[in-house]
Amino acid sequence: MTTFQAGILRPVPAIARYVFFSITPAALNEPALLRESLQRLAPLVDGERVVAAMGQELVQALGIVVPGLRAFPELSGPGVKAPATPVALCLWLRGQDLGELLALTRRLQKALAPAIKALRVVEAFRHGKGVSGHGLDLTGYEDGTENPQEAAAVAAAFASDQGAGLDGSSYLALQQWLHNFDAFEAMSEMDQDHSVGRRRSDNEELDDAPESSHVKRTAQESFTPEAFVLRRSMPWALHTPSGDKAGLMFAAFGSSFYAFEVQMRRMLGQEDGIVDAMFRFSQPVTGAYLWCPPVRDGQLDLRALGL
Ligand code: HEM
Repeated sequence: MTTFQAGILRPVPAIARYVFFSITPAALNEPALLRESLQRLAPLVDGERVVAAMGQELVQALGIVVPGLRAFPELSGPGVKAPATPVALCLWLRGQDLGELLALTRRLQKALAPAIKALRVVEAFRHGKGVSGHGLDLTGYEDGTENPQEAAAVAAAFASDQGAGLDGSSYLALQQWLHNFDAFEAMSEMDQDHSVGRRRSDNEELDDAPESSHVKRTAQESFTPEAFVLRRSMPWALHTPSGDKAGLMFAAFGSSFYAFEVQMRRMLGQEDGIVDAMFRFSQPVTGAYLWCPPVRDGQLDLRALGL
């Protein structure tokens, strides 16, 4: 039976690691080495504890085309941009226990070596709980309220009617946003609520919020065709010598990249020159498009990659 990576549909876990991998120079022209790495990876990915997502770079190095998978476009608008930072592979490790996730990271790294090497890890976590039961962004706003539910979530997040190896797969737009907490804290409470378009205290949507408010920019029914995605974003944090850096690892799973891309373009002001107010206190520092294969018999189904 073919199905999707179940972790995509589940609520975000207590803690997670996003482990980003690149192809080692020696393996770039050696598809056989890459295939061996992926064959060792497949049984370790159940789609639940580990969600695997592949970039165009990896698929191309195998000499394969996955329909709909492309590079993240470098996008910009008045005074704002969404950078493109391609990655070959991202493993989203989901759990409750950091010790377990560390051991799991080592196991996955060993399976992928020597052709595919970990580049960077982002530590993420769930923060608080809002009135609708979702976690909060680090600014305190509940994130995930307007996500589609049940059958609508499956329809939004996963490809269908595309054939074996593609059905059940998902197209992930992943962007690390870095918050500027000084800028956020300098805003009045009303300004903060108007930037999001919801009241932080009770998550109520604000009808009188300005056109720049985040939820007005991204209202999924307002696009033609409608642009639904399943968001599974998580707060992240990193301590650096210059202090804590933190923000949101924004993750949108779609049946294609269409919905994310039209939302992103509108946030950047490409439609009407109005930039999403979220940019007043946060900005994307990475951006990648990735393809999450389906699972079959409890492991990653790599038939679309000829494996
Ligand atoms: C710093 C980054 C971001 C933060 C903190 C953030 C936070 C939020 C919050 C608090 C909501 C309202 C509650 C909800 O429905 O979840 C929301 C809604 C939404 N966001 Fe974001 N978001 C961010 C980036 C993005 C990006 C980059 C996109 C897509 C390009 C996006 C797409 C959406 C969508 C589609 C909705 C629901 C809109 C609706 O149909 O009502 N968000 N976001």
